Amino acid sequence: MSKRIVLSFVLVALLASAGLIIGQERGRRPRSAEASSIENIPLPQSDAEKKILTILDEMGKDRSRRYLSVSLNDGRLMRQLTEATGAKRVVEIGTSTGYSGLWFALALRATGGKLTTYEIDPERARIAGENFKRAGVDDLITIVLGNAHEKVKEYKEPIDVLFLDADKEGYIDYLNKLLPLVRPGGLIFAHNMRRPSPDPRYIEAVTKNPQLDTSFLLMDGAGVGVTLKKRK
Ligand SMILES: C[S@@+](CC[C@H](N)C(=O)[O-])C[C@H]1O[C@@H](n2cnc3c(N)ncnc32)[C@H](O)[C@@H]1O
Repeated sequence: MSKRIVLSFVLVALLASAGLIIGQERGRRPRSAEASSIENIPLPQSDAEKKILTILDEMGKDRSRRYLSVSLNDGRLMRQLTEATGAKRVVEIGTSTGYSGLWFALALRATGGKLTTYEIDPERARIAGENFKRAGVDDLITIVLGNAHEKVKEYKEPIDVLFLDADKEGYIDYLNKLLPLVRPGGLIFAHNMRRPSPDPRYIEAVTKNPQLDTSFLLMDGAGVGVTLKKRK
């Protein structure tokens, strides 16, 4: 191999490593293997928060207590947005055994708010009630037992955060019934925007209405739709 060819290889190698370094310094996203090695578990800052996180952890480890609940990352994101927006009136469609409800409770303890959550299955509602009690947040949460398509008609208060996580083909009906109650500046979270595949009518409703602005987040998991009802 001639000296010139060897020199060219060395130059290319140097430029490539410089590019990588410059890329990292400019704040490029670390590769997912690096990102996933960042230890980032939710840390309690009080005993009350610790009590809720302990039940969440317990439920997270025992799938039979959770059924098909949101992931830790989904719950955490919703807690962050709920607390950051100072939401006080949260409505959840699809309680199951209360995993996502507990993430909302973390936020609502801080904002002084309340959660109203709807569940059609009496056994799941009962377990959710137990979990809320064990976590010390049952006073913040009202479980409404029954078919939410009917039951939400009785709900009349303004909503700061609405979370849709029951029958997937029902999202459009819940949205039509409850959007008028969502306050301007309020948020609508919708679970399973990636899998199982979402109802196209819901996607259309939240992406084609100029009153609304929607992002689809955590799409490497089940996917969460975050829709802002714009202020006038
Ligand atoms: C995916 S699970 C909810 C999980 C929960 N949000 C969590 O992350 O912990 C969906 C729940 O919606 C309930 N559900 C389905 N159809 C419903 C309806 N029409 N009214 C009320 N609840 C319903 C199911 O019984 C089930 O417990």
